[in-house]
Amino acid sequence: MPMNLTLNAPDYVRHDGLKKWVADIAAKAKPANIVWCDGSQEEYDRLCAQMVQSGMLHKLNPAKRPNSFLARSSPDDVARVEDRTFICSKNKAEAGPTNNWIEPAEMRTKLDELFEGAMAGRTMYVIPFSMGPLGSPIAQIGVELSDSPYVVVNMRMMTRMGKKVYDVLGSTGEFVPCVHTVGAPLVAGQADVVWPCNTTKYIVHFPETREIWSYGSGYGGNALLGKKCFALRIASNMGRAEASATSPGWLAEHMLILGVTAPWGKKYHVAAAFPSACGKTNFAMLIPPKGLGQQGWKITTIGDDIAWIKPDAKGNLRAINPEAGYFGVAPGTNEQSNFNCMATLAQDTIFTNVALTDDGDVWWEGMSKVPPAHCIDWQGRDWTPEQAKEKGIKAAHPNARFTVSATQNPVLDPEWDNPEGVVIDAFIFGGRRSTTVPLVTEARDWSEGVYMAATMGSETTAAAVGEQGVVRRDPFAMLPFCGYNMAEYFQHWLSLGEHLQASGAKLPRIFCVNWFRTDADGKFVWPGFSENTRVLKWMLGRIEGEAKGNEHVFGITPSYEDLDWSGMDFSLEKFTTITSIDKAAWRKEFELHAELFEKLAHGLPPSLLEIKAGFESRLG
Ligand code: OXD
Ligand code: MN
Repeated sequence: MPMNLTLNAPDYVRHDGLKKWVADIAAKAKPANIVWCDGSQEEYDRLCAQMVQSGMLHKLNPAKRPNSFLARSSPDDVARVEDRTFICSKNKAEAGPTNNWIEPAEMRTKLDELFEGAMAGRTMYVIPFSMGPLGSPIAQIGVELSDSPYVVVNMRMMTRMGKKVYDVLGSTGEFVPCVHTVGAPLVAGQADVVWPCNTTKYIVHFPETREIWSYGSGYGGNALLGKKCFALRIASNMGRAEASATSPGWLAEHMLILGVTAPWGKKYHVAAAFPSACGKTNFAMLIPPKGLGQQGWKITTIGDDIAWIKPDAKGNLRAINPEAGYFGVAPGTNEQSNFNCMATLAQDTIFTNVALTDDGDVWWEGMSKVPPAHCIDWQGRDWTPEQAKEKGIKAAHPNARFTVSATQNPVLDPEWDNPEGVVIDAFIFGGRRSTTVPLVTEARDWSEGVYMAATMGSETTAAAVGEQGVVRRDPFAMLPFCGYNMAEYFQHWLSLGEHLQASGAKLPRIFCVNWFRTDADGKFVWPGFSENTRVLKWMLGRIEGEAKGNEHVFGITPSYEDLDWSGMDFSLEKFTTITSIDKAAWRKEFELHAELFEKLAHGLPPSLLEIKAGFESRLG
């Protein structure tokens, strides 16, 4: 520890290992002081006020958006940086071909260099958090050390954060150590920048020692280390490591979890995987369309991004949402696309990279049909709709985000905080595909479902830095998040299914969906959003053995009359456009599956190749 720095750990922190680790990181990063976060409202308010003072947060008009703030990031720190994200397992093969890998010792030398004095002049916050309900058998604890107050206030909404975590941790409990710096030491006498970050960025995971190190970015997915880094990349490793001859282990998935209550009173739970910015938050907060709402269908949210799924003693797959808030994409969100989300965001929200209206509120593309006549864009410049038309300048960044506590969601599921989790009845996998993939397909069995999820493709979005709109394979929507060899991850899913089936358990059904097929003019054919409830109803009908469907090359798809069209006018012709199977397109698709399998050849389960051969021969 630097001579003038005191650890000052509060009495309720009884974990010597944790204190030593905090002291060690402080000795390296050399912050000006250390603050142990207690997660209180007072602490949150104090940090927000401090950031308003420093210019990092802008307080929104309390009459329009009470207790809410706007942050504007540096223009080169707006999304996850997949090419700067590393899985540093001992062997390269463990990380697999879909992850960036650097030999751990080499990476540690690099991190040693980068973190030396990295927090100079700043405060280092100690942020204790639980991923999942405190004390749940599925939950895990982490502690993040960060020099960003923005990270502290976001972590408070996104996780169960604060003092009470130390009660669960005790004096010897396990925690995942997460170290984060914005990588911009403050030079004495020099003014700070509004959004400190560094052009050099490293988001690093050591799966064997379960550590996370993040350097140079303040953006959510790179800096709120409980989310993608812990709850997906490290947790996917944990879930697989617990698999043995007697236990199938568990799953950490990029999935929303929702509850569906049917008119006959039974409640179902569905977990659905979609790549980033493909409408997971919208799907999780769905309001059934009038026709189905009148019948009594109701949807409630358990989670909107991540699911941890573990078999219980009876072999049921039980899921929890490890998070406690939503870090969602703002553009496109409006009263029609997601009424419940707009209600959630009415107050106590932190917005990042949206536009500021002249009356001190927020705006983003797609929030209203008519844009404001003037606003300040996400980079702090004057913006008008005319300018936007002329120069194509967006008021909000396409990956602008909101951070908000789950408890503000008007359709929050009463089970959302249940430490035991909820029993999953169905898995849904979806990509953004303008062609080829039908509206919905039910897999005939678990392994064909795993095949469909493994070969998912999706057109890329603004959630990650890089070219947008190109189809890339995104197995299980986990391409950027699987913390180990993707081929072995497929095997983990297959083995888990086999294990549960062998013990007589009933596995959830697996469905594949595509809301995004377009017509000859490039327009979406399926209206999506609340209308997706019709597809959900069909799925639950299949589970109950009541809904009909047509078996085709790779599964079962409903005919027009198998969906409930109450209150909706959707022609057979349109339905045919979004459910047709174009044989030539599928031949091409299978070639792309073959490319993926070649890339993942090391450790690829042979059964996936057999399933592919079966599909191809059926295709003829
Ligand atoms: C997210 C993402 O932020 O998937 O949830 O990028
Ligand atoms: Mn996500």
